[in-house]
Amino acid sequence: MPIIGEIIVSGDKSISHRALMLGSLLSGESYISNLSTSKDVMSTIKCLKRCGVNISSNNMKVNIIGGELQKPEGLLDCENSGTTARLMLGILSSLNIEATLVGDKSLSKRPMNRVIEPLELMGASFNSNQGKLPITINSTSKLQPIIYVMPIASAQVKSSILFASLNTIGLTRVLESYNSRDHTELMLKEIGVDIKINNYIEITNPSLRDKCISIDVPGDPSSASFLIAAAVMIPKSSLKLKNILCNPRRIKYIDIINKMGGDISINNYKMSNGELIGDITVNYKPLRGIIIDEDVIPQIIDEIPILSLISTQANGETIINGISELRFKESDRVHAIKVNLEAMGASVNADGDSIIINGPKILYNTTIKTYSDHRIAMTFVIAGLLTGKFNIIDDIHCIENSFPEFFSLLKTICL
Ligand code: S3P
Repeated sequence: MPIIGEIIVSGDKSISHRALMLGSLLSGESYISNLSTSKDVMSTIKCLKRCGVNISSNNMKVNIIGGELQKPEGLLDCENSGTTARLMLGILSSLNIEATLVGDKSLSKRPMNRVIEPLELMGASFNSNQGKLPITINSTSKLQPIIYVMPIASAQVKSSILFASLNTIGLTRVLESYNSRDHTELMLKEIGVDIKINNYIEITNPSLRDKCISIDVPGDPSSASFLIAAAVMIPKSSLKLKNILCNPRRIKYIDIINKMGGDISINNYKMSNGELIGDITVNYKPLRGIIIDEDVIPQIIDEIPILSLISTQANGETIINGISELRFKESDRVHAIKVNLEAMGASVNADGDSIIINGPKILYNTTIKTYSDHRIAMTFVIAGLLTGKFNIIDDIHCIENSFPEFFSLLKTICL
């Protein structure tokens, strides 16, 4: 059945986390509309409220009165959200707020050393479970700015350092090998913080005095990618998605699909709160395999599962290079992609640092192991559409971690 329709997806998760956190640091009254409805963003709200931030919502508009975060009573439960844990570690340690952060089974297995190390270089002190959650922030003296070359390109690590730097005096400079998403930098610039965005990011003597944030969060392009993929792969499809975040570092997967021969266009571009927004139109067109290089991986990090599925329908070989970071997401996504695509009949080689997929292949309906990873679950719901029958998915509830409206929107466009 073709995918036909016009939809709006809920607010971007990355921007929602950052707007809530930044609003909590600012003493003025801040407003956020179209906040992501994801469970991950709710985890951030719960943690911030535990630290005494006044967050309320009225007519779909979230109102924050921040500026005075306090030591929380009890644990800060980041549940499944890596962004909550890593960014809150930066924020709370720089404010010298003693707290213990915990997470669910998946988050407790994920590496936190990547933020602990730079924050300790700034003077923070932690007790961790061998670089993993639970992590306790110990009391220290004021943090120092840092010049830091990031060993891995990660927007979460970069943002944790940038948030921590807001409470330091002097120059903080962060360099990353490849560009990751830049919403923290853009948001800080938008509210008037002295920040330079070049090949590296520089913040000098930041001041948050008398600042506030008022933002309308654009639609999440990572959530959109699953519905876009359905239209890309199913003949006679035509789908329009309105008001989507089109930050170039978030829509690289669209460039990639178009390089594969796809027909995706963006129009009605506008700038809002320092971010580029547009309407995306997708029409079905047969695809061919391509090579995707390591340098763009941070910009498609959340879309690799769905791009792997798309590759099974393209003519020829697709090679995605430099995928090692995927092993540290909500699940080992390299393993989850391989196991499930092979179970459906695809040809996948993922032994080294690349995923190699040969297409096109007819896929067969099967039972999917999601490893409770929302992006794996959504990828294989969409894969089921190609077989004419839904796959049996062992955990669909995890989809709420990023995209609670996934099934209801899918229903409206699956004719
Ligand atoms: C995110 C950054 C990415 C991404 C995650 C959200 C963010 O993680 O995978 O879903 O909001 O900063 P890394 O920065 O660890 O690659």
